[in-house]
This record gives sequence, C-alpha cells and structure tokens, in this order.
Amino acid sequence: MSIAYYNGDFCDFSSVRIPLSDRSIFFGDGIYDAAIGKGGGIYLEKEHLDRFFSNAEKMNIPIKVKRNELSALIRKLISENGYEEYFIYMQLSRFGKARTHSYPDTEESNLLITVKEHTLPDPSNELKLITLPDIRYSMCDVKTLNLLPAVLASKKAEESGCDEAVFVRDGVVTECAHSNIHIIKHGVLYTHPNGKFILPGITRGRLLYFCQMLGIKTIEIPFTVSELYGADEVLVTSTTKLCQNATEIDGKTLQKSNSLVGKMLISALFEDFFKKVC
Ligand code: PDD
Repeated sequence: MSIAYYNGDFCDFSSVRIPLSDRSIFFGDGIYDAAIGKGGGIYLEKEHLDRFFSNAEKMNIPIKVKRNELSALIRKLISENGYEEYFIYMQLSRFGKARTHSYPDTEESNLLITVKEHTLPDPSNELKLITLPDIRYSMCDVKTLNLLPAVLASKKAEESGCDEAVFVRDGVVTECAHSNIHIIKHGVLYTHPNGKFILPGITRGRLLYFCQMLGIKTIEIPFTVSELYGADEVLVTSTTKLCQNATEIDGKTLQKSNSLVGKMLISALFEDFFKKVC
C-alpha cells in the first residue's frame, strides 16, 4: 500500500480522510499536476512545478508551501514509498467551510500528494484511438480537477478497445482525453496551438524542443479529422506514456508510410527521460 501526503500528514493512501471543507469534493475546486520519475528524481520537475504554481495563481488558490518545500515534500514521499519508477500526483484545492458557490477569501488551502508505481510503456507500442466530440469548456489550458468529459471519453475509448479518445471540436482535432496529439505529414510536425482548447502539455513542449534540435519543421496550427486520417504518422504525448505512435483511428489502420520522424522523436524523448531525470 502506498503512502500519501495530505495537509501535513504522511499516511496510508486508503486512510487519508478528506474533510468537507475541501472544496474539491463539492465543486472540483482545485488544480493538479502529474509527473513521473525514477531513482528518487523527478523528470522535468521545473516545468511541472511552474505549471502547478501558475495554475494555482490563475485560479486564485493560495499555496502555503514554497517551490523548494513542495519539491522536498515530493522527494520525501518518493523515498517513503520506495518505488524505483513512479507517477507523482499533486493536487491543490480550495478551502471553504460551507457549500457556497462563491469561495471565501482565506489563506487556507489543501495539498494532496500521491506517488504510485509506474513504468513507462514500450516505446514501440502502437496506440488505437477513437475520435469523440470535444464537449469540454474553453478553459482546457488550466489543469483543473473538472475532468468529467475526459473521464467519460476515456471509458468510451476503453469500451471500444482503444487506448485514448481524440477530441474533435467543430471538425478540428484539439487534443486527447489525457494527452496531446500531433501529426506528421511530408516530414513536418503539425500540432494544435496552445490556447484555451488544449492543455499546454509538458511532454508536448519537450517534443517541440526535440523537433528544433533535430531540424524537424513544426507548424502549430489546428488540423482536421481527415488530415488526422491521412497523416504519415500520428504521435500522442503525455507524462505517463511520453511519446507513442498511433496506428489505428476509428477502426481504420493508418496507411503505412516511410516516415521515420516519429521514431526519431520517440527515441529522443525516451533517452531524455533516462538521462535527464534527477
Ligand atoms: N494528463 N492534455 C490533457 C487533457 C491532459 O490531461 C494531459 C496530461 C496532457 C499531456 O500533458 P503532459 O505532457 O503535461 O502530461 C494533455 C495527465 C498525465 C493526467 O491527467 O494524468
């Protein structure tokens, strides 16, 4: 059983008691972030902490710990759990005494951190995807706890024998239920621009960095479902899977192409994880 952290206490995951003064319960009033690591380290820690603190500020949720204190708490939890490779989840939620929609002005907030065992999938995995309407709101750039559309879409994907759901808004592919998605056509990588319709994925950022390093042209522009079907390669990125190739969408197998761009990027990201985690 894993050890979790909640508001100052380290205890068994299943014995954490969340009080009703934690507004994540009534309203999903909170933000979160998720990272992976190995050997005591946290991969792309700075980027994850930057996003966590910036989302807390955007949502006006006070955070009592400083960055170095949060980092120390996460590292302590990693060591308490003793896994070699792991997934780290941190959640900051608003404090409130009663169920009122508007929130009280207070310096209080709730911090939850969990760590579970996680090993990266095989880089040669091939994902199956299903497209579904993007029924989410227009604040997808903030990593809030309001994940019901993603939860429902993920279940639909699972029931259809797929690994991920691809969200489509007005004919345009935005992102997936819990990943970003990119296509490669004639050696160029296309990805939806950051903004209110996608999460600015940290792995997406790293992918774009490696495109630059490897001289791969990138265009941040929305693409359509037919462009997705007609892509030479489709890449899906997220913290937990890093970067994987998708080969089937809506039951159709993507046409085989000679493009090696995806393979180069997948290798670059996996090598980066094993080199850079600290
Ligand atoms: N999901 N888009 C959405 C909607 C996501 O939930 C995620 C991450 C991503 C990829 O972002 P990143 O590369 O920073 O992980 C894109 C995480 C892993 C989760 O909710 O567990």
